[in-house]
Amino acid sequence: MKKLFLFVVTLVMALSLFGCAPAASNPAAPAAKAKKEYKDMTLCYPQLGAESDWRTANTASIKENATKLGIKKLVFSDAQQKPENQISAVRACIQQGVDVIALPPVVEDGWDAVLTEAKNAKIPVIIVDRSVKADPSLYAAHIGSNMELEGKKSAEEMNKLLPNGGKILELSGTTGSGAAVGRAKGFREALNKNIEIVDTQTANFTRAEAIPVMKAFLNKYGTDIDGVFIHNDDMAIGAIEAMKAAGVKPGDMKIVSVDGTRGGFQAMIDGWVQADVECNPLLGPQVYELALKLMNGETIEREILTNETVFYPDKAAELLPSRQY
Ligand code: AHR
Repeated sequence: MKKLFLFVVTLVMALSLFGCAPAASNPAAPAAKAKKEYKDMTLCYPQLGAESDWRTANTASIKENATKLGIKKLVFSDAQQKPENQISAVRACIQQGVDVIALPPVVEDGWDAVLTEAKNAKIPVIIVDRSVKADPSLYAAHIGSNMELEGKKSAEEMNKLLPNGGKILELSGTTGSGAAVGRAKGFREALNKNIEIVDTQTANFTRAEAIPVMKAFLNKYGTDIDGVFIHNDDMAIGAIEAMKAAGVKPGDMKIVSVDGTRGGFQAMIDGWVQADVECNPLLGPQVYELALKLMNGETIEREILTNETVFYPDKAAELLPSRQY
């Protein structure tokens, strides 16, 4: 009897050692944290503006994916390309206690104070599309394009279009924006030495502003210009309007543009644009996926770059019907 008792005790001890004993509940143990889902997410997207078809597509991607994934709430605003409006929108989101802020910054500078406020409030920030010049510890990650690479690709296209060199103009995006700064830098680094940039002016990524800027360029330099590097398709469309009014014909000045919007494709079909460097605005799925990971404290990649290509006139008509923006 005593032997049997000892055997049973030993067996129970062995089973519990190997984790086979029935689980005893421990009320003092902390409950495992439930994984957050999209339905729990409130995401703040202080959009920088509505200046271009690219931007419209970016906004649509954020809004459509919010619905598709069934997130709890999207706090969306439009800063009308004004940094001060965007900073106020971020502050309002911090006060509301959103889960994640996804910020497409209009310009690179001036973010340290408000990013510090978000950090102190324990709200992670994802920088979307353009870059910021801020202490990297103030934001979680960046999702978007490599703007310098886009500028480099644009220069390589211009080099091919003007093998004997020439004089070109540059229509630049918003001054101080990561997109304009990166594209200008990459372009200059890769441009052949026999091509001279005779002038550069901003038109803030808009069609409306590109018309007078191009008109002034044509008045000043005549038509003695071999090419134009234009930082986005909307400005290209505006510039083409000014060229048409001045009697310039498609192909007289080689145009390299950026984005790959439907408007850019049409300008290639019409013979005005010779190369369109892709910049993809459809960032919604990546933004929400990363935001959810942040809410769950998962390990994330800090830099998520979009894979992009270059489009040419020969395939433009074939590809245009399937373009999403
Ligand atoms: O930051 C991306 C740029 O902003 C796009 O090239 C342009 O079209 C937009 O306005």
